[in-house]
Amino acid sequence: MKPTIVILDERISASMVGVTGKADCEAQVCPATDPKFGDYQANGVMPLAKQLKTDPRKLAEKVVEGLDVSDICELPEIAGPGFINLRLKPDFVADRLLKINADPQNRLDIAKAEKPETIVVDFSGPNIAKQMHVGHLRSTIIGDCICRFLEFLGHNVIRQNHIGDWGLQMGMVVYALEDVYWEQDEPKLNLEILEQEYKRIVELEKEDPEIADKVRKRTAELQAKEPLAMRYWREACGITMSECYRLYVMMGVNLSTIHTVGESFYKDMLTDVVEELKKKSLAVESDGAICVFPVDSTGSPQAGFKNKEGEPLPLIIQKSDGAYLYATTDLAAIRYRINELKADRIIYVTDARQKLHFEMLFAVARMAKWVSDDIELSHVMFGSVLGEDGAPLKTRSGENVKLKELLDEAVKQARKVVDEKNADLPDDEKDRIAKAVGIGAVKYADFSNNRTSDYVFSFDRMLAMDGNTAPYMQYAYARIKSIGRKAVDRDIKAEKELKGITNLNITEPSELDLAKHLVRYGEAIEAAINDYRPNYLTSYLYELAQKFSVFYTNCPVLDAGAEKRPTRLLLCDLTAKTIEHGLKELLGIEVVDQM
Ligand code: ARG
Repeated sequence: MKPTIVILDERISASMVGVTGKADCEAQVCPATDPKFGDYQANGVMPLAKQLKTDPRKLAEKVVEGLDVSDICELPEIAGPGFINLRLKPDFVADRLLKINADPQNRLDIAKAEKPETIVVDFSGPNIAKQMHVGHLRSTIIGDCICRFLEFLGHNVIRQNHIGDWGLQMGMVVYALEDVYWEQDEPKLNLEILEQEYKRIVELEKEDPEIADKVRKRTAELQAKEPLAMRYWREACGITMSECYRLYVMMGVNLSTIHTVGESFYKDMLTDVVEELKKKSLAVESDGAICVFPVDSTGSPQAGFKNKEGEPLPLIIQKSDGAYLYATTDLAAIRYRINELKADRIIYVTDARQKLHFEMLFAVARMAKWVSDDIELSHVMFGSVLGEDGAPLKTRSGENVKLKELLDEAVKQARKVVDEKNADLPDDEKDRIAKAVGIGAVKYADFSNNRTSDYVFSFDRMLAMDGNTAPYMQYAYARIKSIGRKAVDRDIKAEKELKGITNLNITEPSELDLAKHLVRYGEAIEAAINDYRPNYLTSYLYELAQKFSVFYTNCPVLDAGAEKRPTRLLLCDLTAKTIEHGLKELLGIEVVDQM
């Protein structure tokens, strides 16, 4: 079904058109700012009245007269200068809940997209010979979360892990690995060692011109695909990525070898990118480098692409020594994704520091007509993870915190919480729960923050049992599951009662409040995916858990008696299903039956 908010918006907009004869009226229906006045409000009458130079309240009255929403709402009320307030009818809510309950596909009343698109999502993007650090956390989990939303809505999602596996540093990686093999016959290698060796060569190269020469030579040979250099390069990629894949599994992120299409994949397409841009007279030489200046149709620099002196900023695509750059590869990738993968939309998930890079990239790709107007390019950016001191999170020695260490620590700390809460559980069960809670807490804390702001990373806060945290949500879920277990103990056939239910008996305010929130899940999902903001979903879930808590305090479930019990069981069941769906399907966070 369409979300209620959409249906109401359509009907009120239509009435506005009917009353004024003006095409394209917008009702602007949104959730009510104060629940005292109802569930939704339409704000669109005031601006329309202003346009038509007429009294907004009178216009609102006419719009309400011409409106029939009696199947959904109580009689609409006009408030203030011309707001239309709408309150859902309990019968309508009950009806929706029964439909959700009866849906064999368990879609919780959420329809698939009318026009499924092919959407490329570019996220994670670790670099060879470097361990993933907390900076990669956000890209990896937000990217995965966006994919999950889009997949649930029925889009064809193509995950792309644009790893940094080509370019100038790769000569150093090859050199470092060769050095290790020169010293030892059968070296024990892992990503930590590879990273150390790589860093060692980086330092050496700075001091020793001879090494710098050798590295340069190795880089050139690698680029010419010399077999031995290629072998070491491939080994370095293997060592790095197998560690990344392990972390992806640990985080519940769906990224594997089939999604890894890194910079090296585009290496043979770069010459053509530069040639094409030259042919189109977009690429010009500037200080020896080949550049594109994003300009508008009059030839002046596009807004935002000027330096402080007002001079146009270039996107550099080839250096004076002939080397290609990060941007050249990204241009090749755009062409590939549109021409070969048939993308209708491309989403890039990286930190905000790459904002200008993507803006210029998109501008150049559009100027080159490689991207038609109907294709959407989005840079979904995010802020930094900060330490408790408010500075970017670093280890004591000033290094980036390794993602692996951070996740291990989260699980360790979660284990303490589990020990406290549920000392009697067997050890392996405690381990399983600690993993779900620890990893869940890190992910949830990230999702629940506004993506574009920085946030302070705090184990204590993210593992707290109260507040908008993963453990709180997981506990809320486990608590509902325990009602099911109690039902079994008391020989109550909850499942059977739910199956046979054709009629709900919603009378208590806390029942109605919970029920209304349940039927609004689709709105939260739509808001979250329209803006690529998972925190809209976490806020919804948190509110759901709170409303459930009020309901459960006020309304006995198993002792409710034959009149009310099926209704209350259904409210419990749908709350559990919604939390489970939100956490597991959309955020990739495990739920547990007991905590
Ligand atoms: N490897 C890059 C980094 O670590 C991220 C790649 C983002 N994707 C892209 N198409 N540029 O910052």
